[in-house]
Amino acid sequence: MSLDSIPVVPGANLLGHIHLFQGPDRLRFFQRIAETGELARVSFLGRPVVFASSPASAHEVLVEKARLFEKSPGIRLLLHYLAGEGLFTSEGDLWRRQRRLMAPLFQPAVIAQYAACMHDVAVRAASTWKDGAAVDLAHEMTRIAMGVVGKALFDSDTFDESDALGDALTVALRWADSQGASPRLVAQIALVDALDAAAERAPQALAGLRRRAQEALKEPLFLEGARGETLQRAIRLLDGRIQQMIDERRAQGLGRADLLTRLLAARDEENAGAAAMTDRQVRDEANTLFVAGHETTATSLSWAFYLLGRDPEVRAAVQREVDALPPGPISFASASTALPLTTRVFKEAMRLYPPVPVYARRLLADAEIRGVPLPKGTLVFVNPYPIHRLAGVFPEPERFDPDRFLPEREALRPKSAYLPFGAGPRVCIGLHFALLEGPIVLATLMRLVRVETDPARVIEPVLVATLRPGGGVPARVYRRAPAG
Ligand code: HEM
Repeated sequence: MSLDSIPVVPGANLLGHIHLFQGPDRLRFFQRIAETGELARVSFLGRPVVFASSPASAHEVLVEKARLFEKSPGIRLLLHYLAGEGLFTSEGDLWRRQRRLMAPLFQPAVIAQYAACMHDVAVRAASTWKDGAAVDLAHEMTRIAMGVVGKALFDSDTFDESDALGDALTVALRWADSQGASPRLVAQIALVDALDAAAERAPQALAGLRRRAQEALKEPLFLEGARGETLQRAIRLLDGRIQQMIDERRAQGLGRADLLTRLLAARDEENAGAAAMTDRQVRDEANTLFVAGHETTATSLSWAFYLLGRDPEVRAAVQREVDALPPGPISFASASTALPLTTRVFKEAMRLYPPVPVYARRLLADAEIRGVPLPKGTLVFVNPYPIHRLAGVFPEPERFDPDRFLPEREALRPKSAYLPFGAGPRVCIGLHFALLEGPIVLATLMRLVRVETDPARVIEPVLVATLRPGGGVPARVYRRAPAG
């Protein structure tokens, strides 16, 4: 057995399968890949990509053999401009060190302190809605999730797209979005890989030259608009504003509770307790947390409202749970104990619509996956969308059924059969944050307003950077009488 023995997904043309990734029906294509086999092959301009579409193969890639993989160069190229060497994009020793330094900031005990801000931001958003107003929930959830991350990161109360910083980050993010699966990107990845391969044969004297060429290629030179004035202006503004906040915090003595201060205050125990990160690294991490931390949560919240709108019974049960909460802000403790159904709804929304639908990796060494030997350099993509729809694991997979996440049923599930946050060492560091934010925002909003969506309207997911509701989630919001 070898790479060649892995079945090829039908439908390729001269350029391979690129057109199917760019077409409107990309999700159907992800399903077709899974139907071809638990390992199936596609090609991008002649470059093979192996898809892992079963829990067992995903587990091998993400968990058991994680140290044999790095993130695909494409991901790093796309986000390098914005997130630099932040946690999402970095590799090797730098990633290990940063993960070790940042993990304590995302422990449940620390995250608990952000519950109040999640509640406040949701209350503030609802207060801007007029009774009976038509809103796009996808847009509103993005505003809320951006507000939450802005408050948690920068202690800023005005953080949304109307804020200059939020706007600049959005510009950069939209740009990265627009480049996904672009043939130019694939060409650039191929070039980086070709250099990697040449590196192994090149004489030592060429090593410096090669390194410089590879560094240059990390910049998205080939990508449209990379040098465009709007993007450049946004990046300059980001750099300037974040540096200003860093300077303020240093001057004030790092007493604040926001994540930016905590990043600045991180100390490296392995380096005599010295300040662990340069300003540049802090900036990269702040941008990374913003990018990774808002759109995913916003998308999951939008889907949760959409699904509730189509299931009056579950919705009524969630409403009862929410109305039984004690008055006042929803604390970490009540979110963890008094919102089990609301939490299950949020999880089920991420099963049906995993916000990050592909985890792209590249092999650092020859390795076997499901017994098939794959050469170093092979791109291996984990495919959670069809994995979340395996009938053997999730009976009637298209049905919205939050009770799949009852603890006793979760305990029976095979490893890596549910992976909205990834798995293994690179699992989402913001997992506890998101699992707190989702239920708190849902519950806070459902206490304040009745959200009416059209139950007959079918919304198709579209894949931009995350799996978004195509055309948004139109709704009307009606104020509810205050409890008691
Ligand atoms: C519903 C919400 C979220 C979802 C579905 C989600 C999903 C993911 C996934 C799938 C990955 C791993 C990707 C891969 O292995 O290729 C990831 C990584 C990451 N996420 Fe999240 N995420 C969410 C919320 C957050 C939040 C709230 C934050 C921070 C405040 C965050 C920060 C990060 C970071 C920094 C990484 C990189 C971790 C590393 O490589 O060590 N995410 N996320």
